[in-house]
Amino acid sequence: MKLAPSIYTADFARLGEQIQAAERAGVDLIHLDVMDGRFVPSLTFGPAVCAAAKRSTGLACEAHLMIEAPERHLADFQRAGMSRLIVHAEGCPHLYSTLEAIHALGLGAGLALNPLTPLTVLEDALPYLELVLIMSVEPGFGGQPFIPGALARIARVRAMLDDIGSPAELEVDGGVNSSTIRAVRDAGATVVVVGSAVFSDKTSVADGVRALRAASA
Ligand code: DX5
Ligand code: ZN
Repeated sequence: MKLAPSIYTADFARLGEQIQAAERAGVDLIHLDVMDGRFVPSLTFGPAVCAAAKRSTGLACEAHLMIEAPERHLADFQRAGMSRLIVHAEGCPHLYSTLEAIHALGLGAGLALNPLTPLTVLEDALPYLELVLIMSVEPGFGGQPFIPGALARIARVRAMLDDIGSPAELEVDGGVNSSTIRAVRDAGATVVVVGSAVFSDKTSVADGVRALRAASA
């Protein structure tokens, strides 16, 4: 299973250093949480910080766009060097066009679903997706507890992907730590986003990554 640290809880004064520590610890990609203060209550950063993060690492970076009307900003995130753009089903009335616009930029497209958003949208959207992101917290803040009901949703999406032989990644975001990572893996996730379990003042990045690998081995 791939580890995708989210820089949301990193020390922004040492962003490059922290990303490089994660890279040295063997993580698989970097997850960038873009929030606009409207789609979610918090404000984080935009394409300029994404570009700076990408410049600091050889790893692929993906942007999780928790913003209204993400279709207005897709090209900015492509120029920032992102490999994959993840948009929210709840924020995209014209989802087909948005996913096609991401593909037209040469990027992978991901679709994120909030904890109680019906999975039925995936029945039609799956052929257009390189990734499904199941939120296991309400988006907007790091360090929240994992919502247990997310496990059954991950398993249902796993079955939907397997049914049609889809190679899409199944990513899980929110509250993944040493206590929850194994159940997330067993439910069928292929990528986990980890924020406070890796970037926190309670542990070094290397120790955080080691603990997650040990807990999911
Ligand atoms: C939540 C974000 C997450 C979050 C993860 O809105 O999308 O990526 O920062 O942080 P933890 O792992 O601390 O829940
Ligand atoms: Zn995220």
